[in-house]
Amino acid sequence: VPADDVTTTTTTTPTTLAELPTPLLVLDLRALDRNIDAMAQVRPAAALRPHVKAFKSTAMARHVRDRAGHRSFCCATLREMEGMVAAGLDEDLLLANETLDRERLARLVRRSGGRVTVAIDSPETIAAASGTGAEVLIDVDVGLPRCGCRPEDAGRLAELARSRGLIVRGVMGYEGHTVGDPDRERRREAVERSMEALRLAHDAVGGGIASAGGTGTYDLHDWADEVQAGSYLLMDTHYALLDLPFVQAVTVEATVTSVSPRRGWAVVDAGLKAFGMDHGNPTVEGWEVFFCSDEHTTLLADPEGALPAVGDRLRMAPAHIDPTVAYHEQFVVARNDEILETWPVDLRGW
Ligand SMILES: Cc1ncc(COP(=O)(O)O)c(C=O)c1O
Repeated sequence: VPADDVTTTTTTTPTTLAELPTPLLVLDLRALDRNIDAMAQVRPAAALRPHVKAFKSTAMARHVRDRAGHRSFCCATLREMEGMVAAGLDEDLLLANETLDRERLARLVRRSGGRVTVAIDSPETIAAASGTGAEVLIDVDVGLPRCGCRPEDAGRLAELARSRGLIVRGVMGYEGHTVGDPDRERRREAVERSMEALRLAHDAVGGGIASAGGTGTYDLHDWADEVQAGSYLLMDTHYALLDLPFVQAVTVEATVTSVSPRRGWAVVDAGLKAFGMDHGNPTVEGWEVFFCSDEHTTLLADPEGALPAVGDRLRMAPAHIDPTVAYHEQFVVARNDEILETWPVDLRGW
């Protein structure tokens, strides 16, 4: 190897964050554990079905299970389901989403030693599930303009599913149109309206499960059996606008790579490809974010004209956690600046 080959790897294991290249997805273990405990106080064990899509990591799922005793999980993609099965975290997995991929679903059920359940909302999704060994929940439209059948069609779909040999475990209805509303009273009323619709469907469907909810509504459910929250574990600045007891546990560490005192800005090496941007720009304590481009974020000088220095490392809080995590390959689990572990984001992709 030539002496100046910059790709040559070193054999020493990094022990501090400063030794790793940026951008870096940093997970504050104490904050994560605080969030796990705050949720488990209100929704212990089976009252919560943690949503894997928020963190996409079997290592984190295992940590959540071991700390709080939640043993059933929900997923948004077949990839997440497959990874959870391969990791043995498959006691009771729900694909809280529709799929038409019958073969892949059947293969997943064959590999799993536990229960695999899938949301269905049409004759087509029933046909995809039948004969695979998967059980089903009838997905009901409770107000979010996305998946789910009309509440009044739920009983008919359950009948059709049963006639195809499927076990119908109950209903699910995700009130995603309301989880982000910062007004708690409005959230409460919207949850009530959504659950009225889900209850109507449940009466017609039967089965032991009514699954609903998310981070913003986790404590507003007195009827649903389980809440499907995931963002509460890591949090983001969008959810931080709500009156929730959860704290920011993930930041993206970035390095200042360029400073222009004349123009009054500094640039860090994390941009659109390090953050989910649909809820807005990331936030950097002490600095105002001007804008993000592919691999850069430009920060403005403070009112006194001060700027960070080239080489400084800054922590950036994402506005939307799920897509942010999906851009990264691993969480660096840290206490302050000390690296404790790395947890692969092994459930990325579809
Ligand atoms: C089906 C479903 N359930 C629950 C949630 C709740 O997730 P969060 O914890 O982000 O509110 C989501 C988020 O989009 C979802 O799609």
